[in-house]
Amino acid sequence: MDAVAGFGACVEAHKMALVWLVLAGSFFAALLAQRLPQLKPPSGTASLSFAGLFQDLIRYGKTKSGWQRPVGLQMFDVPKRWFYHFYVVSVTWNGFLLVLLIQSLLLSWPFPIWLQDLLTAVDGALQDKHRCTDSSVNGGESLSAFLVCLFVWLNSCRRLRECLHISIFSNSVIHIVQYCFGLCYYVLVGLTVLCQVPAKVREGKDYQLTVCWYHVLGLMMFIWASLHQHRCHVILANLRKNKSGKVVNLDHSIPFGDWFEMVSCPHYLAELLIYISMAITFGLNNFTWWLVVAYVFFNQAMSAVLSHEYYLSNFKHYPKCRKAYIPFLL
Ligand SMILES: NC(=O)c1ccc[n+]([C@@H]2O[C@H](COP(=O)([O-])OP(=O)(O)OC[C@H]3O[C@@H](n4cnc5c(N)ncnc54)[C@H](OP(=O)(O)O)[C@@H]3O)[C@@H](O)[C@H]2O)c1
Repeated sequence: MDAVAGFGACVEAHKMALVWLVLAGSFFAALLAQRLPQLKPPSGTASLSFAGLFQDLIRYGKTKSGWQRPVGLQMFDVPKRWFYHFYVVSVTWNGFLLVLLIQSLLLSWPFPIWLQDLLTAVDGALQDKHRCTDSSVNGGESLSAFLVCLFVWLNSCRRLRECLHISIFSNSVIHIVQYCFGLCYYVLVGLTVLCQVPAKVREGKDYQLTVCWYHVLGLMMFIWASLHQHRCHVILANLRKNKSGKVVNLDHSIPFGDWFEMVSCPHYLAELLIYISMAITFGLNNFTWWLVVAYVFFNQAMSAVLSHEYYLSNFKHYPKCRKAYIPFLL
């Protein structure tokens, strides 16, 4: 009974970690399941089936083409060009959280009560009992949370700009469930970051900011990965333009240059590195954030594997040395 009660209390205190564990586990399971022959895209039939529904939920964009999708599934399509909605939500919500965090760090203003209550509800009231009370450790944690909140916001601003002004979208689609998940995703990410802020700072009490080696390393890696991801998005957009920058087609063709020489989906690899850079900024020992990284790893692995398959089946001369996601490995 004690063990059950202890487990219950542990789950209560780490709800946010549990959410990310479930998300990471679901994508891991889906990654394995998509290899089962029974769940492969149904061929030659346009009737509704479990395999069809499964494929429709894991695929989006170019990887949704190539099999006959029943009309019953197409009803749930929304344009992939709506990806920018995710970043509008993120820039707004995470910008708001960033302002609150800056006010609390610079002016010792407490977070609004509703937010303090929400953070306690999602990550347990026990949080600070398990934390070191050393002010330099709290100072390091506060700076980590501030930097990661800033990185999430900057990343969303860049992605919003890329979606609106750089990427060229075709008429490809995503499932409404994926769309709704995308809208909630960055809200959850922002709350996860704020859960890492020491309660003292949330309540507007005194603290001391301490710069540590992992803040510097995390920042450098964030800039490096973001630059590469941006370059990859530019390369993809240029595939649809002529030399003078005019959009001339909406086809999917083979990208070359930068990390595309090593993997089919370097922008997904860069995404993973961006989240790892945040884990470094948290000092490498933030369990909840490593679960976020695990979720990003499996989510992006799924999209990378499907994209790689798409390239291999559509281009006879696709470069043989390219992996899908992780150079030389996967
Ligand atoms: N953190 C997360 O959970 C998460 C989840 C999803 C995505 N993301 C990030 O969001 C970014 C975009 O992801 P995504 O899945 O939308 O990438 P994507 O499918 O590769 O699409 C990116 C852009 O490139 C175009 N494109 C893709 N392949 C092309 C090709 N072979 N030839 C010409 N154009 C091509 C797409 O047009 P179409 O309209 O034809 O597709 C779209 O405009 C990535 O950096 C990814 O890491 C993050």
